[in-house]
Amino acid sequence: MAKIELKDWPGVLENSGETVLETLIANDVPFPFSCASGDCGACKGRVLCGEVELQSCPEGILSREEREQGYVLACRCIPKSDLKLEALDELVALPPAKRQTAWVVQQSRRQGDVVILNIQPRQEISFLPGQYFNLKFDNLPARAYSVASQPGDSCLSFHIRLLPDGKTSGYVSRDIVGHALTLDGPYGHGYWRPQHEGPLLAVAGGTGLAPMLSIVNAALRANARREVWLYYADREESDVYWESELLALQQRYPNLRILCELSRARPPAQGVLPRRYQRVTAALQQDWPSLAGAKVYAAGSPRMVDAVAACTRSLGLAPRDLHTDPFSDAHEHRLDGALVTWCRRALRRWQKGPFAQLETASELE
Ligand SMILES: Cc1cc2nc3c(=O)[nH]c(=O)nc-3n(C[C@H](O)[C@H](O)[C@H](O)COP(=O)(O)OP(=O)(O)OC[C@H]3O[C@@H](n4cnc5c(N)ncnc54)[C@H](O)[C@@H]3O)c2cc1C
Ligand code: FES
Repeated sequence: MAKIELKDWPGVLENSGETVLETLIANDVPFPFSCASGDCGACKGRVLCGEVELQSCPEGILSREEREQGYVLACRCIPKSDLKLEALDELVALPPAKRQTAWVVQQSRRQGDVVILNIQPRQEISFLPGQYFNLKFDNLPARAYSVASQPGDSCLSFHIRLLPDGKTSGYVSRDIVGHALTLDGPYGHGYWRPQHEGPLLAVAGGTGLAPMLSIVNAALRANARREVWLYYADREESDVYWESELLALQQRYPNLRILCELSRARPPAQGVLPRRYQRVTAALQQDWPSLAGAKVYAAGSPRMVDAVAACTRSLGLAPRDLHTDPFSDAHEHRLDGALVTWCRRALRRWQKGPFAQLETASELE
């Protein structure tokens, strides 16, 4: 059994062979994490003392240089000895996740096979701009979707790209206004950090635009004059599904720059926002000689997020200034891991005393 000490956290935690992240979760430490599968980098920390076995993870998320400097992903490492660890990100207690019934109150179909769903929860719910919820329709498996709305809005808005033969995609492609669903959340660590004052870059791949809109709107409402760059990346002209709203946002905030990057299209442009015909990583390299002092948020496919992570790091972005929630399908498998974690946590509480209160089933996530 290894002992884990975490900087700025009282006490010593016991690890019996599971990942460091599982130990932290089981002990209610508000350590940042999101995918729990090595895809987002949210759980990055540094080993100050001790040895770990590091499982495989993408180079873009944890580079060779970072490994050499002692950085690890808590969800991908198992202690080989007693450990002293520091979190890269702040230890913040996030709004608690709740599970409740909600209803679809509005639905519209956009080009690019995107459905916009507005959902009314039974009770008001707190979340941070950039977080996501698990939506479970009918008897289908739950799926994660990032919220595009602002905290305090009367309903939650989601942008859902329809995938061929996708289970939830198939369901939301039908008229489902009035249907009930189970809403579970919020989750995720790719949320907006209001304390940061340097340039803010929001990089959205496809429907990764939803959480980036939530972050960009929150940042501009807090300070309309701050420097914000929104990169919207997709493949074809026919994928661009939020053009007029982006244009309206650009007109409202002169310090907001919206860049539309299409990797597979060719001129002439069909929309009103200016286009560039390249990958979003090429655009970042073109626009930024250095990203030192900036904050970057990214959402979309794991492959894009991974490429953005590698690119921004090569441009001097500090690891603590990148925040992502990739749309990883490993997330679905995570429910199993989360169940194990929940059972372990329940066991620990029971060991502390049979009357210690167990939390709700939303801990399953
Ligand atoms: C944190 C997070 C946030 C997310 N936010 C968003 C968001 O805002 N918007 C959004 O559109 N998506 C988002 N996603 C992705 C979303 O959760 C779903 O994964 C996605 O919508 C597909 O769900 P589905 O049920 O329609 O498809 P699934 O049924 O899960 O299928 C997905 C794809 O895999 C294929 N497939 C299914 N089963 C198999 C199999 N056995 N073998 C081979 N292929 C198979 C299907 O044909 C389909 O193309 C997010 C994911 C995460 C983790
Ligand atoms: S939570 Fe560990 S990499 Fe995403």
